[in-house]
Amino acid sequence: LAGEATAVVNVDQDAGRINRHIYGHFAEHLGRCIYDGIWVGPDSPIPNTDGARNDVVTALKNLSIPNLRWPGGCFADDYHWRDGIGPQDKRPKRINMHWGQVIDTNEFGTHEFLNLCELLDTEPYLAGNVGSGTPQEMRDWIEYMTFDGDSELANLRRKNGREEPWKVPYFGVGNENWGCGGNMRPEYYADLYRRYSTYCRSFSGNRMTLVACGANGLDANWTRVMTERIGRRMPAISLHYYTVYPAWANKTVATGFGEEEWAAVLSECLRMRTAIGNAEASLDKIDPRNRIGLFVDEWGAWYQNEPGTPGYALYQQNSLRDALLAGITLHIFHEHNDRVRMANIAQVVNVLQAMILTEGDKMLPTPSYHLFEMYRVHQDATRLPLDVESPEYAFGDHSLPALSVSASKNEAGEVNISIVNAHATEEMDLKIDLKGSEAESVTGRILTANQLDAHNTFDAPNSVEPSGFDNAKLSGATLEAAIPAHSVVVLTLK
Ligand code: AHR
Repeated sequence: LAGEATAVVNVDQDAGRINRHIYGHFAEHLGRCIYDGIWVGPDSPIPNTDGARNDVVTALKNLSIPNLRWPGGCFADDYHWRDGIGPQDKRPKRINMHWGQVIDTNEFGTHEFLNLCELLDTEPYLAGNVGSGTPQEMRDWIEYMTFDGDSELANLRRKNGREEPWKVPYFGVGNENWGCGGNMRPEYYADLYRRYSTYCRSFSGNRMTLVACGANGLDANWTRVMTERIGRRMPAISLHYYTVYPAWANKTVATGFGEEEWAAVLSECLRMRTAIGNAEASLDKIDPRNRIGLFVDEWGAWYQNEPGTPGYALYQQNSLRDALLAGITLHIFHEHNDRVRMANIAQVVNVLQAMILTEGDKMLPTPSYHLFEMYRVHQDATRLPLDVESPEYAFGDHSLPALSVSASKNEAGEVNISIVNAHATEEMDLKIDLKGSEAESVTGRILTANQLDAHNTFDAPNSVEPSGFDNAKLSGATLEAAIPAHSVVVLTLK
């Protein structure tokens, strides 16, 4: 079976830059994300650089990750940064109260995180503690990390082994303060934001973007109150939206599902558009020139945890479906590139929609990892305006357009078109009118598999991976491609 779809891509137009920061990541002290997943310590038999696993670092470098958010999540509003500095064996053991009440040794702290960011060549995005911390604790952390003068805190940093200050370009003033970050009303948090942010100064040439806590999913009221009470005093505000089906209390599984759950999850992820739209409606009123950034600093699919693993560790497999979910969601971010300037998929290793899973000294790249690698081409490229006419894909009560398409042009003039075919069973014959194109050749890559829930395992870590795609034909300014069912294709025109 094949469906027919058409698109017009305006190659000679400019719809703004796709900020590379929407390809950001998130690492929380949760389950095996930090400990095991990223950090094994310098004495581990697992090959590492100053404690960070080499295999994971190499894999993440291959994604060109633009930023990494840490230490939470919920963990952030119960984290006291002084616990995580100084000699590792002297650091206090604390209860990770949100995530299983396990003991956190604090072996991984500020120095370890910021050094990791340098290793990954990525920009740090820290989340400060509003829920259980003070404005003084927050401002002291910033001084400790970023001040280059002769102050007690800067000297303490030096004593702990770091002479030069780090650059910390992004700093979150709390996390989910409507929930685990203090169960606050937006009116109360708005006042706290005004207070805490007063003391979050940029020191020594470090230009820090402060991020106010934003809404929970589709909640329009939170952003409305924030914009009315804070106005343009906030350079950025966050938004969290997870794809959960059918309900938080009864989440579907990560693998072993049928077409109903395939269609349901992929149509649910489209609600990201509504979540962004709700936040934008308030932001546009006070900031029509889009100075305030919307940072979707937590997103992704949230399923039942894998059998045999503790529920608090949020460890789930990752299938082809997740790669498509990521592709569709990233296209939504591209559409909103005038306002959405950062996004962080949750989370980078071993938690929720992870890029990487580890088990002892083994690691595997997930289908979502491969999607991010294929989509690297869009980072900081110019978005090209386009129109798509796609058949609808429907299964049971769920429906969504079969095709989702996005296009960008890089500095070298190459055009990259990413195409998601969400249809479980039908190929789509896509004909694209490339307005203003002078391209002479097309090449492609595809991510697909025989099964909807295909995934990588530690025994077969490469069963789902991209391969070459030669089912596209360019004649003049017309591009025709047969996009297989349940696949993601990236075409490059030169
Ligand atoms: O990513 C897992 C959790 O989801 C985060 O800690 C929290 O911010 C969100 O509710």
